[in-house]
Amino acid sequence: MTDRTVHKSPSAGGVSHYLTDYSVARGQFSWQEARRALAGGESRLNMAHEALERPIGLGLGDRVAARFIDRNWNRADLTYAQLHLRACRFANILRSLGLGRGAAVATVLGRGPELFIAGLGTLKAGNVFCSLFSAFGPEPLQTRLQLGHVRVLVTTESLYRRKVAGIRAALPELRHVLIVRETPQGDLPADTADFAQLMSRAPETYDSAPTRDEDVALLHFTSGTTGKPKGVTLTHAAVIAQHVTSQLVLDLHPGEVFWCTADPGWVTGIAYGLIGPLTCGASMIVDREEFDPQRWYRILEEERVNIWYTAPTAIRMLMKAGTALARGRKYPHLRHMASVGEPLNAEAVTWGLEAFDMPFHDTWWQTETGAIMIANFPACEVRAGSMGRAVPGVEAQVVRRAEGGGLEVIDSDDQAGEIALKPGWPSMFSGYLEDPERYRASFLEGWYLAGDLARRDRDGYFWFIGRADDIIKSAGHLISPFEVESALMRHPAVAQVAVIGVPDPICGQAVKAFIELRAGFEESEELRRNIMGHARRLLGAAVAPREIAFKESLPRTRSGKIMRRLLRARELGLPEGDLSTLEGRE
Ligand code: WT7
Repeated sequence: MTDRTVHKSPSAGGVSHYLTDYSVARGQFSWQEARRALAGGESRLNMAHEALERPIGLGLGDRVAARFIDRNWNRADLTYAQLHLRACRFANILRSLGLGRGAAVATVLGRGPELFIAGLGTLKAGNVFCSLFSAFGPEPLQTRLQLGHVRVLVTTESLYRRKVAGIRAALPELRHVLIVRETPQGDLPADTADFAQLMSRAPETYDSAPTRDEDVALLHFTSGTTGKPKGVTLTHAAVIAQHVTSQLVLDLHPGEVFWCTADPGWVTGIAYGLIGPLTCGASMIVDREEFDPQRWYRILEEERVNIWYTAPTAIRMLMKAGTALARGRKYPHLRHMASVGEPLNAEAVTWGLEAFDMPFHDTWWQTETGAIMIANFPACEVRAGSMGRAVPGVEAQVVRRAEGGGLEVIDSDDQAGEIALKPGWPSMFSGYLEDPERYRASFLEGWYLAGDLARRDRDGYFWFIGRADDIIKSAGHLISPFEVESALMRHPAVAQVAVIGVPDPICGQAVKAFIELRAGFEESEELRRNIMGHARRLLGAAVAPREIAFKESLPRTRSGKIMRRLLRARELGLPEGDLSTLEGRE
């Protein structure tokens, strides 16, 4: 498969690529230079400043920063100048609430202007921005709002009533809830304030807080296999890597139309759905609706999208809808397509050629890396099925944990190992919230260990193998088996539960729960539906299991820990591996 290469994207009418020769770009690159190019020699650095004042200073104030498209195809544009004024207003609201620098502000919002305004305003004010996935149920929201010590929340009226009102009492640190109204009239819920009203009264000027490279800017939650979700902190310096990769990997030039389909509840939706593209002066398309093939093709054509960043699950759904549908429209403006979040199979890469006359370019990174680390670059050959090569400025290897406890770099011999990155890139996470131990454990002998297994071929291309842990990737979302198990355990009929990911042709993996019932409960279709409903209510449909299997007993280690690995091996018909710790050797 290594030599299944696909020719490069056509160079777009006159636009020259930021990266034309990979080795030259790598050889010349330095993060110090990149920082200077963005923020000059100043000691202060503020993400929102780089995303708004910088492009405005370059004369892009009247360009569209973001175009929001609603269900009925109404288009609402915000120029860079307008977005800036609104972000200033929001920063002033935070000031008037007496919020100290560094306190966290969260949003539970769909893809709309308020999210952009609140996010950029928060960063401008020097507060920490945390965008939570609006499809989460109350349970995951409560855990994250608590862990993040969130002081201010911006959400819509209906999301508040459905998901937050019931957990508000458990959130004493959450002082202010600002409501985005969906209808102009009527009383707001108790103990909330009207976002629009506060905005209309707030002044339009605000000097960006004099934050420094190392100050925390963003808080993203990601999943662990055990315990609570991990709060990943990124600093203002992350904007340097998000800017550089928006140029070198996504090839975003000022004025180009860019569509990132990721939800802002996840890191891609912020790094490349908000910050990175603005620092490049691009015009973003924001679709407020959910996935729909016809709608997506119409957006690509009518909005004259130049560059498109999407995900394997969406690509597979488009493939399923048929090439003819894609061919029913024309995309003369489209010049680059990239993907992230889960393995992009070779078939999906080459389907790009059939449907759009260009391949999808896979990219790899994680919440912890804060920006793209490995990529197929627009001007370089694409190796279908490979994630590409390390971004200039990033040293990536495949390593193996040696017997003595150290690390061994596997030297381009196509052997499997764990992806390791040499710290030094500016968007590397600065910590796991309140878990320094876990943070330390992510590094070994001067490398950050990513927890993904891969091979690296002799030309430096990385080939994904799988995750080294139990975390589930479904439709691009990381799901903690532990979080799902905890919610299921709260159902009165559930005695024991184990949750794993099972292969799914569209979503990559689907969440499946194995349940041992308490005495007195009988397996039935009704009970299954009841447990399913319970899980959806607590977790939200995107996280709840799609399949439930009842088991007489679940395989456990002698210490009582349920062996997800063994369940997975049995489910997939894989070798069961070392069973020496299995209780009773079933
Ligand atoms: C995990 C990180 C990347 C930002 C959005 C997700 C998996 C990511 C790829 C890819 C195969 C991929 C990895 C990684 N992943 N990109 N191109 N091929 N797997 O960030 O939620 O922190 O997830 O997503 O397992 O560790 P995240």
